[in-house]
Amino acid sequence: MARKLMVVGNWKMNGCRQYVNELTTALSLHCFNSVDVVVCPPACLIQSFGSIDFLLAGQDVSDCNDGAYTGDISAAMLAEIGCEYVLVGHSERREMHGETNQQVAQKVLRAIEQGIKPIVCVGEPLLMKEAKAEQDYIAEQLAPVLSAVNCEQLEQVVFAYEPIWAIGTGKSASPEQAQCIHKFIRDVISRKSESAAEKVRILYGGSVNFDNAQALFAQDDIDGGLVGGASLKSDSFTTICRYANGEH
Ligand code: PGA
Repeated sequence: MARKLMVVGNWKMNGCRQYVNELTTALSLHCFNSVDVVVCPPACLIQSFGSIDFLLAGQDVSDCNDGAYTGDISAAMLAEIGCEYVLVGHSERREMHGETNQQVAQKVLRAIEQGIKPIVCVGEPLLMKEAKAEQDYIAEQLAPVLSAVNCEQLEQVVFAYEPIWAIGTGKSASPEQAQCIHKFIRDVISRKSESAAEKVRILYGGSVNFDNAQALFAQDDIDGGLVGGASLKSDSFTTICRYANGEH
């Protein structure tokens, strides 16, 4: 089964209304039939997007439904303002905000309950890579998510492999390295559901740019990219989306 590619632009804590307009205009000049384009702006900018033909995502979601959680945003709130996806467990949330694998799994459930598809980020730090322990590390990150969801819910999940050593460093994983881990992730998923493993998209993230995108997207188990820095320039991001759309 062919999986539709997906390119997700993660602005992190960057961007402004002017860039909302610039990127919207740049993307509107193209017809992206073969790729799902998703933009994750900071929460306060989500409602600045007018009429668009791409999708919006939150950068994080609370693991609770409502209550005294200052600064947090619930899945229902994201759904209400038109988000179809949400990033969950980005390494910056895990590292700087102490998010645990269990919390990530709860966030996944909260999102799915509100009809939002979670994009679950996993990936190892440099030390684990050097110790050749990246697969064990990733399997541990995946386990609570895979046990929290049922097989039907699992089909709603998108995974993103983002090796921490590749994020924002300009040192992307090679297409072969990334393919090997993507295949591993798909194999782990298939132990829960073979049909979900066939369907779910596994994105690669970590210094994706217009020079390396095509080679990465050409790999069997790489179903698109989660793009940070290069999503902050409308021409770079549009080019990456065009490549994922099968254009040259
Ligand atoms: P990068 O970030 O493309 O700037 O490496 C990717 C991410 O953190 O999602």
